[in-house]
Amino acid sequence: MIQPGISKFANVTKVTTHVLQEMKLKNEKIAMLTAYDYSMARLLDKAGIDVILVGDSASNVMAGHSSTLPITLNEMIYHASSVVRAVKRALVITDMPFGTYQGNSKEALSSAIRIMKESGADAVKLEGGREILESVDRILSAGIPIMGHLGLTPQSIHKFGTYVVRATEEKEAQKLIDDAHILEEAGCFGIVLEKIPAKLAARVTAEIKIPIIGIGAGPDVDGQVLVLHDMLGITQEFSPRFLRRYHNLSEEIQGSVTAYIKDVKSVDFPNEREQY
Ligand code: KIV
Repeated sequence: MIQPGISKFANVTKVTTHVLQEMKLKNEKIAMLTAYDYSMARLLDKAGIDVILVGDSASNVMAGHSSTLPITLNEMIYHASSVVRAVKRALVITDMPFGTYQGNSKEALSSAIRIMKESGADAVKLEGGREILESVDRILSAGIPIMGHLGLTPQSIHKFGTYVVRATEEKEAQKLIDDAHILEEAGCFGIVLEKIPAKLAARVTAEIKIPIIGIGAGPDVDGQVLVLHDMLGITQEFSPRFLRRYHNLSEEIQGSVTAYIKDVKSVDFPNEREQY
């Protein structure tokens, strides 16, 4: 549980989009992490995380794909429903996977409805600005809350051709600012800004009234998100500058498994107390 001294919102029993807006108004930073399964989501929720993102990064860290593009709507619903079963307090946001909302707003709405109905998630997240506005409008018209995602949007990685920091040039920075305004005016409840200059993220956060969550966007945003497997040190190969590792779980897991193998081979396990 979160200590009341650390958060003014420690006694909130369920985080909603309204609570996030209050957090922005009261200058309380929003703590968000990804999760994709019941057991991890339960631990995060018990620790007091504000928002759990069922990210399409599941495509990388759960399924082993090299990008977020292959994960399907059914797979995202499976991950999201596992997370929802575990969570009591956190707001659960589910990523709409690549190909389920770009280009056809009717299909976007039916994909979003499937996520909400079949997983029980609280909201969806979509990547992009002006180019997906028709889908955003249609999903919002059904009463489904949307978080936007701008900057380094991983579903567009083949267009970018590189994972370098985005919006360093004036033209791309201006488009990002315009897109943030478009998403806010459409009625989105928040926006993720990924891997952009800290100054630009600070400007967007000051101009936009809805909460801005950063990943690789510096400290002057309304909250932070990291991929759980990266911050716990389960993934090893991914080491961007913005990543803070809180643990080296890959070493600990491998150490435990090595000890188990040794115990089984030497018949140290099970001992007299571990049998019937
Ligand atoms: O899929 C994901 O994990 C995300 C975060 C990186 C924001 O979109």
